[in-house]
Amino acid sequence: MLILDGVKVAQQWCLEQKRAGKSIGLVPTMGYLHQGHLSLVQEARQQCDVVVVSIFVNPIQFGVGEDFETYPRDLSRDQALLEEEAVDALFAPLISDMYPPGYNSFVEVGGEITAKLCGASRPGHFKGVATVVSKLFNICLPDKAFFGQKDAQQVMVIEKMVRELNFPLQIVRVPIVREEDGLAKSSRNVYLDEEQRRQALVLNQALREAEMHVQQGERNVARLKEIMRKVIASSPQAVIDYIDIYDAADLGDMEQVDRKALMALAVKFGNTRLIDNRLVEV
Ligand code: PAF
Repeated sequence: MLILDGVKVAQQWCLEQKRAGKSIGLVPTMGYLHQGHLSLVQEARQQCDVVVVSIFVNPIQFGVGEDFETYPRDLSRDQALLEEEAVDALFAPLISDMYPPGYNSFVEVGGEITAKLCGASRPGHFKGVATVVSKLFNICLPDKAFFGQKDAQQVMVIEKMVRELNFPLQIVRVPIVREEDGLAKSSRNVYLDEEQRRQALVLNQALREAEMHVQQGERNVARLKEIMRKVIASSPQAVIDYIDIYDAADLGDMEQVDRKALMALAVKFGNTRLIDNRLVEV
């Protein structure tokens, strides 16, 4: 696996791949890889000639007081995992190469899609994500970029940005990967102590419970949110950030689940904020 540690060298190498007629699949990550990331890599491996994985803990998508400094990092372990998946190139730039002194260009996706859920709880987060993802697209020149459905709102924001700014590439959504007991895989799960890890199961349980009620005919959004709230409240350490249900196409408001809906949760255990979601169809 080639290590591309500079922006210029990465862009040049990707350009050469394109000129040789090869399709490029990009998997953008912040590292500390788990099976969720590897499922994106495996999908990219199946769909593209060349697979590039980026590892970059992007400072501008973290708010003040968030976990940028403590975000888990282990580049040599990540490298070994990517070698096993036959990844062609790892792009791991320095912050100073991505954002040199005086850097001042940002990409902002507006509208309801960034105003709700994590956009409301983490002001500026999606501006940071849209900016870094645009830069990664311009550097790595992918034909396809792979994102996890675990960050459902993030993938919707990126799809909108790609559409509206005419990026010539396709976004591929890959399903959530869960632990055997149902907890969605996340690099942040390592922050949880044993008791929090046990209690964190309520996220998936709440979503499943609400989905079951939809399947049994419940359509009222307020009642479904209350069902989820009760399940989360059964965990003494859980502090709810949001529990919401929106139109899965555009995060539009809905009072009744009468079309495909995104049920989404953000819950804190101590300092650890976990998110999870489920799409429901009627
Ligand atoms: O989902 C992530 O890991 C990050 O938000 C991303 C897309 C790599 C941008 O920094």
